[in-house]
Amino acid sequence: MIELAHVSKRFGSEIAVNDISLRIPKGKFCALVGTSGCGKSTTLRMINRLIAHSEGEIILDGASIETYDPVKLRRRIGYVIQHTGLFPHWSVARNIGLVPRLLKWPSIDVQARVEELMQLLGLPVEEFGHKYPHQLSGGQAQRVGVARALAANPDIMLMDEPFGALDPITREKLQDELAKLQARMHKTIVFVTHDMDEALKLADHLVVMRDGRIVQQGSPLALLKHPADPFVESLLGGLERGLKQAALTRVKDHMNSLGSALPAQSRIPADFSLRQALSMMLRDHSDRLTVVDQHDVPVGELSLRKIVKEAHLDKGNSRE
Ligand SMILES: Nc1ncnc2c1ncn2[C@@H]1O[C@H](COP(=O)(O)OP(=O)(O)OP(=O)(O)O)[C@@H](O)[C@H]1O
Ligand SMILES: [Mg+2]
Repeated sequence: MIELAHVSKRFGSEIAVNDISLRIPKGKFCALVGTSGCGKSTTLRMINRLIAHSEGEIILDGASIETYDPVKLRRRIGYVIQHTGLFPHWSVARNIGLVPRLLKWPSIDVQARVEELMQLLGLPVEEFGHKYPHQLSGGQAQRVGVARALAANPDIMLMDEPFGALDPITREKLQDELAKLQARMHKTIVFVTHDMDEALKLADHLVVMRDGRIVQQGSPLALLKHPADPFVESLLGGLERGLKQAALTRVKDHMNSLGSALPAQSRIPADFSLRQALSMMLRDHSDRLTVVDQHDVPVGELSLRKIVKEAHLDKGNSRE
């Protein structure tokens, strides 16, 4: 659905994006990661034509983006920018309703949509609807930015560090919301983040950039297993790589059937990750866990030995 072929962007003599090629199929979640200044935001802005690319081609739904009217293009692409970009003199509710109003939705529908999104993002309308951006915390403003991008239900979302200013708990909650939303709505998402765990958790396709170039791209597990060079490896967490792989692997794909031995005391739900299993083993001083289903009924067991010796940490992962 979105394809970049040999795309470059120059600002004067400086090259911000250097010959990148990238395909994002419809409904997929692509995360861009890389050190500051490597060209991530520039890449997003070229996709919705906020800035013009210098070379190469950007194709959307089979046609070059140059054939689309830029204003219409931007209305069908949700965009969450790095520093929220809310209109300071507009209330939160008015900010969120911006694109639906531009698309001339009936005002009752705009209002209903605004309320629905504020609910979803944990910003009660009664409390926040009439506030102005300067009256919000950084994290609240970011959530308003996400709500605004989702408002007209666009099929493409460009998200530039949308959760950067959030505390870890709210951040995780919004990541989970986004993952759920994505499972239901299958939007095509290009997401920039500095948080590798966030990228690994959400992405189908992970793109690592450095100095304007793409140094490696592929599924999160593929990159974790075979980082192309020391830069990618360190970005992926160096020694933590094993744990990050374990975080992407489900207990249910590696458990044994229930044995005749007494079941272990510690219980772990089958859809938890092997990383969570390892953590539970360390916490409970146990090398065995009883695996339970959503009704807390034992369905199998998991041993440390099995995780370390037998598990290749890649079986049964649907993302590869
Ligand atoms: N409008 C502009 N004019 C000139 N140079 C620019 C402009 N926008 C970006 N650049 C340069 O292009 C390069 C890439 O910038 P970009 O904003 O895409 O980086 P980034 O990967 O998003 O970084 P960060 O993680 O810090 O947000 C940087 O060197 C930046 O200075
Ligand atoms: Mg940026």
